[in-house]
Amino acid sequence: MIELAERDYFTDHDILLDPYAYFEAARERGPVYRLPGRDIVLVTGFEEALEVLKNTDDYSSVIAPQGPAAPLPFEAGGVDLSPLIEAHRGGFVGGDLLVAYDGEQHTFSRSILSRLFTPSKLRANEAFISELAGQLVGDAVAAGRCELIKDIATPFVTLVIADLLGVPADDRQVFMDAIDAGPPPGSLDPDDLAAQNQPLVLMGMYFAQYVADRRQSPRGDVLSELSAAAYPDGSQPDLMEIVRLATFLFGAGQDTSAKLLGNAMRHLVDMPALQQQLRADPALIPDFLEEVLRLEGSTKMTARLVKKPAQIAGFDVRPGEKVFIALAAANRDPRRWEDPGKLILGRPRIKEHLAFGRGAHVCAGAPLARVEVRAIFEEFLSRTSDIDLDETIHGSRGARRLEYEPSFIIRGLAALNLKLTPA
Ligand code: HEM
Repeated sequence: MIELAERDYFTDHDILLDPYAYFEAARERGPVYRLPGRDIVLVTGFEEALEVLKNTDDYSSVIAPQGPAAPLPFEAGGVDLSPLIEAHRGGFVGGDLLVAYDGEQHTFSRSILSRLFTPSKLRANEAFISELAGQLVGDAVAAGRCELIKDIATPFVTLVIADLLGVPADDRQVFMDAIDAGPPPGSLDPDDLAAQNQPLVLMGMYFAQYVADRRQSPRGDVLSELSAAAYPDGSQPDLMEIVRLATFLFGAGQDTSAKLLGNAMRHLVDMPALQQQLRADPALIPDFLEEVLRLEGSTKMTARLVKKPAQIAGFDVRPGEKVFIALAAANRDPRRWEDPGKLILGRPRIKEHLAFGRGAHVCAGAPLARVEVRAIFEEFLSRTSDIDLDETIHGSRGARRLEYEPSFIIRGLAALNLKLTPA
């Protein structure tokens, strides 16, 4: 029988559904472990993951979207792959997305995002968030039940980003329908892979229209501002760059936030004492959410391509090798976190977890994600006296039946059926 640490993370269905035992088995081989027979180095250690995330000289983000398992579009050679990466960027899946950019190109594109995430924009968006959270959760509590992911999480996160970007109200339903009809995130099923980008392609078409319109006649809205954005050197990005950026925000902030809601709720329903504690003191909700981000964040991993000969905590890596940064494992590294598998409220320096990554590519939407998820939990806890799972679907406590998405990136439930007792 093949040992757990030697099974294939990317194709083994059981590991895709639940990666934690696999990561622990890999950790026993060392915090940096070269996967047998592959050009992939798996990092499960916290300090080691930080070292790679913060080092943009030796590592490229170009494989962050496609992951470490896909082959490179060129033959690696030489002591610095940077020129080869740039020459073949178009051959990497998602190589033209912000999260995959390196160097100046990344700094420039990221500077455009700072126009969206200004304190005043976030404040206006926050008002929309609390109102929408109240409305969605209010309806669910009145019905006494809901399916958290489909009824609340997905429409909620879609509408919040639509509001932030200034998507016209009339078009928002089209965006929601497209996402609803799309396949699950990070699926490796060939049928799903083909359809993976369809919702984003459709949204891209809408954004191309919005940006073109606003470049012609600005209207003083967020989309006009994005369309007029200039890089730090004064040059204007081409239309498709803005379209890609706007569309990418939907992808980046969609399943990540929606699945975090599900993961956090799954912990809460099985810990009634914690539920009561948070109801009595809602100021503890952010701390609870940070601990869930650490323990069961919705992004399991990211990846980097080694550009130059380098070392990760003394472990040699070669140009052309891929680094699989297991964020979910770094967040449970026992050298960094005491009793790492346990949900503990009030851990010191909890915000140092790596659920949002770190360094130049640290999640740009983290402040928004935190506000969104907190708003939903505040509504749920204040409007109910008890939240439980529907046992006819999920089984009883201690013998739950839960279905996770078979994704190599996202950790999250396909569905979570709740029973809600009004306050
Ligand atoms: C719980 C929710 C979320 C999680 C766990 C999460 C996680 C992450 C992680 C781990 C990265 C770094 C990837 C890397 O270094 O390769 C990232 C990047 C990013 N995230 Fe998030 N994210 C969340 C929500 C959001 C939201 C709501 C938005 C936008 C509205 C967003 C926008 C982005 C963007 C734009 C980047 C790329 C930043 C860059 O490359 O400079 N994320 N996210």
